Amino acid sequence: MDKRTFLKNIGALGLFPLTNQLHYEEADSKLIDTADYNESDFWKLVRSQYNLHPDFINLESGYYNIIPKPTLAKQIEHIKRINLEGSFYMRNNRFKDKAMVTDQLSKLVNCPSDNLVITRNATESLDLVISGFPWEKGDEAIYALQDYGSMQDMFEQISKRHNVVLKKVSIPNHPLNDEEIVSIYKSQITAKTKLIMVSHMINITGQILPIKKICLMAKNYGVKVLVDGAHCVGHFDFKIDDLGCDYYGSSLHKWLATPLGAGLLYVDSKHIPNIWPLIADHEKNPTKIQRLSHTGTHPCSTDLSIIDSIEYLNWIGIKRKEKRLNYLKSYWLDALKDNPKIIINTPYDKKRSCGIGNVGIRNMKPELLAKRLYEEFKIFTVAIDYANVKGCRITPNVFNNTQELDSFIVAMQTLADT
Ligand SMILES: Cc1ncc(COP(=O)(O)O)c(C=O)c1O
Repeated sequence: MDKRTFLKNIGALGLFPLTNQLHYEEADSKLIDTADYNESDFWKLVRSQYNLHPDFINLESGYYNIIPKPTLAKQIEHIKRINLEGSFYMRNNRFKDKAMVTDQLSKLVNCPSDNLVITRNATESLDLVISGFPWEKGDEAIYALQDYGSMQDMFEQISKRHNVVLKKVSIPNHPLNDEEIVSIYKSQITAKTKLIMVSHMINITGQILPIKKICLMAKNYGVKVLVDGAHCVGHFDFKIDDLGCDYYGSSLHKWLATPLGAGLLYVDSKHIPNIWPLIADHEKNPTKIQRLSHTGTHPCSTDLSIIDSIEYLNWIGIKRKEKRLNYLKSYWLDALKDNPKIIINTPYDKKRSCGIGNVGIRNMKPELLAKRLYEEFKIFTVAIDYANVKGCRITPNVFNNTQELDSFIVAMQTLADT
């Protein structure tokens, strides 16, 4: 597509003239039967269920997912109900409801509900395990330079606090095979290694790691594995029970598209008594996972909305969503990968990533690339410039269409030529 066609298309998308006016439409709470919709019409319908910002193309759903109108309508109902019932709700229903929601969530991620708690985000879930692990002086932990910063910060804190030795590995953007990745972690294990943290999906590149094989290897050495699955629940099809991990943490306001402030933590039964909670709870039975989930008073309407987000995901279907996200990522990635001025930081093998990808331009700093994409083309992304990743993270969502990706492709080709 040439630049003129691009500008015509972007105009047709309603991106110019710029307006700061957001159009909040009446939320449509119906999930209609789409059995006779073809694929293209189905995704058009999904797009229509979102209020999209008129001033820019949102290719940064990696931070969190905006929620579709049906979920938003339900969330507003929950907020109104809790505001009406007030303390009556909190005293009589809050914890019963939370248990019911946890039960539904455990069915979605496929693990027993006795091993699952709802948290406020992945940071809380993962930091709870890192900080609450029964560390002893001289113990060793392994994680990757490509892991999320807050978890690396917590490892540094426990290193200072408990004299834990930190071993940092680096994951190549284009691994040869699973064995290469497994051996990177394996090479750092010693008799003192207690815990490996590994990203199920590396957030800066979208690379999916072979968790099952890493867990199997670690088990042979008696090392526990904490999986950072912040980007995985609701993004692609997997079962926690299949992975063989010891702990799993995820955000739910990312790909399950719950309202902001929801996450989950899975802990294998044998480890529940050994983890110190972040906030102490009145549950004194050491085998009950609820002892790890004290939050104090917080906006519990978000917890209730998890049910509605699961309903919306099931309406789309996780396999269909996974296929669509992978298709959208491949759509732009395949169009750009042969340009010699462009660097792809995400594996080409479609099984090693899903919706998230990362791309850079040789000799252009990621920060400048993100700035120019936004200022000159009204495309919102995020710059990544650390470890072995120099580029912008590109994260389309179920509401994005290929016309928007065409705009992105033309923008990248234009910028690569300047
Ligand atoms: C890999 C990874 N882990 C953890 C987190 C933290 O998630 P939250 O901010 O929802 O706690 C993020 C957030 O982007 C992430 O990308």
